[in-house]
Amino acid sequence: MKICFATNNSKKLKEVRAVLGKEFEIVSLEEIGCKEELPETGDKLEDNAFQKARYVKTHYGVDCFADDTGLEVDALDGAPGVYSGRYAGEPRSDDRNVDLLLKNMAEKKDRKAAFRTVIALIIGDEEWAFNGKAEGELIGARSGEGGFGYDPIFKPLGYDKTFAELSLEEKNTISHRGKAVRLLATFLKEKSS
Ligand code: IMP
Repeated sequence: MKICFATNNSKKLKEVRAVLGKEFEIVSLEEIGCKEELPETGDKLEDNAFQKARYVKTHYGVDCFADDTGLEVDALDGAPGVYSGRYAGEPRSDDRNVDLLLKNMAEKKDRKAAFRTVIALIIGDEEWAFNGKAEGELIGARSGEGGFGYDPIFKPLGYDKTFAELSLEEKNTISHRGKAVRLLATFLKEKSS
């Protein structure tokens, strides 16, 4: 089965391809010739995921799925949440986002945080959504070289390593995106059988 994952984030592509396996041919935005930035102007993860997927379906005519992810921090009333990508403003920068979050968390005792992912899927003229969540806590300084985004400062519940210190397979087993993609995979397999 061939389907577009509406992203050009090579790290996300790698994570998702690893979960979906060889049964699925996952093509990126670049591979369908889409170079423009996709709209994501909603104030909910689900709205943004569907905005991106619908844009691709409308302009490129391919079945696709898109994800939107946010890091929700208890001590910051759920921020950066849906604005995680632009937390430190434009142009987007993982480094500046992490720096700002570390600064805003410097005095906070409650370190609880959770990643949430919504995947929007469009096949033909039908739409579905899949959700995944990973709970954990924020540490006070970066640790680890793997992953991307906020991974170096997020320690998942029950682990003494950050997401950036886990292998891709370990991260996928417990991560927000891994969980949502496994639901997507089960659905796609049932649909195509
Ligand atoms: P988006 O889903 O690409 O809009 O991601 C929003 C923000 O969350 C960006 O700053 C990403 O770098 C970050 N992000 C998305 N997924 C992950 C993840 O799995 N780990 C850490 N940060 C992530």
